[in-house]
Amino acid sequence: MNVTFLDASHPHWSRKLEQAGVLLGAGANPTLFPYHFLYVTLSKIGGKLAFFEANGATIGVGFLFPRRLSTSAEGVRRTYTLRFHAAPGHVCDPQIITAACQRAMPEAAFVFYDPQGALSYYRTSKLIGVVDIGRPDADEAAASRAIQRLVWGSPDEFLYPSDIHSAEFAAGTSLVARVDGKVAGFLFGFYAFGGAPLPADWTERYNGGFRIESQTLGVLPDYRGLRIANLLKKRQAELAWREGIGIVTWTADPLQAPNAALNFGLLKAVSFEFAPDLYPFRNELNRVHASRFGLTWLVGSKRVREAPALGARADILDLTRRPQIPRANDGCDDARFDLDADVIAIETPADWTALQAHDPAQAQAWRSLTDALFQHYIGLAPGQYTVTGVGVAEEKRFLLAERSEDRLWQRLGA
Ligand SMILES: CC(C)(COP(=O)(O)OP(=O)(O)OC[C@H]1O[C@@H](n2cnc3c(N)ncnc32)[C@H](O)[C@@H]1OP(=O)(O)O)[C@@H](O)C(=O)NCCC(=O)NCCS
Repeated sequence: MNVTFLDASHPHWSRKLEQAGVLLGAGANPTLFPYHFLYVTLSKIGGKLAFFEANGATIGVGFLFPRRLSTSAEGVRRTYTLRFHAAPGHVCDPQIITAACQRAMPEAAFVFYDPQGALSYYRTSKLIGVVDIGRPDADEAAASRAIQRLVWGSPDEFLYPSDIHSAEFAAGTSLVARVDGKVAGFLFGFYAFGGAPLPADWTERYNGGFRIESQTLGVLPDYRGLRIANLLKKRQAELAWREGIGIVTWTADPLQAPNAALNFGLLKAVSFEFAPDLYPFRNELNRVHASRFGLTWLVGSKRVREAPALGARADILDLTRRPQIPRANDGCDDARFDLDADVIAIETPADWTALQAHDPAQAQAWRSLTDALFQHYIGLAPGQYTVTGVGVAEEKRFLLAERSEDRLWQRLGA
């Protein structure tokens, strides 16, 4: 048997993924990851696609997920979860499959995982105020799939498989929030081997070689505003730091003002990465092209750890009292690319979801203008800025960005 490993650097990456999807019945197979995740995120977290072939036929497809990074006298060793799907009509021996991987990548280790095999779930529980946060049992894991469907209005092929919450898959983060015994929200994420370059000494200080990429956070509409998102994220940070993981990353639409308030104002994540048109999908929350910030959350830093799980409020700066902070735009016109202040403000729509639903032309104008501003201003290069906060001026919403420089890295990284 022969195995070939591929990642997004392969010239026919999307075609190979589509080939895997057709073989494994994408759309009708609830154990397959959504295409947009495989296309964009799998490689980003250090994962790979594996094709297993025998006698000229593909007998199975594997998805390698980062699981562990161990350091010993021999060096650094990567352990992957080998999420294996046999091709229809084939029965594969896990030992033979694992041995083929081992031969092809002798420096790594593999843990075979069958998403349709016998799996176990272990429920954990921690009551914080009225919200119970913990790992889901099997029913709750299944419920989180229904919440994804409800929150994003997505068809089934966009939903994540519920077995990712199993003990055997060992996702980097697997949490649900319960209110009166019912699942009200969920958060999951995956381990990552490295990621985007970090400033200053953050890689050494916060163990940048092994991170958690937080994938999806959702709270049912009836339960919003109860600080459930905040509690899920704080618990994620606490568990990650306890495991020795100092960096949690995720992506967010920069134009969703409530998420910006949560991410920057309350959780104290920062962003120095911007990707225009990152994801190929459209849904109720993404009617125009899906541009994203990459967020970095230093879960071991003082600034993050000092914010209490209960009782903290988002820091939202009132810009009417800070006229000295220059604004890069006024609504969706009038962009300025010549700002040179220590802190700048970039305006975002007050209600991006409603704007996309009711005025697609204006939504597109906002997206295009802010794409240009973020591409110009946001980054680690000299003269660029890092998003660290949010502001308001009456009805208007803003992102606040500080000059990317040593002084800032020292303050944020302390
Ligand atoms: C974004 C989302 C997860 C927030 O969940 P939530 O449990 O209601 O959020 P919390 O109660 O923990 O709010 C925490 C902070 O987020 C911000 N926030 C949340 N909802 C907000 C809203 N509707 N308007 C303004 N700010 C809001 C606030 O800053 C709030 O803190 P504050 O009250 O001190 O200002 C939820 O609205 C949701 O599921 N949205 C759709 C899916 C999504 O966008 N997921 C996140 C990206 S993957």
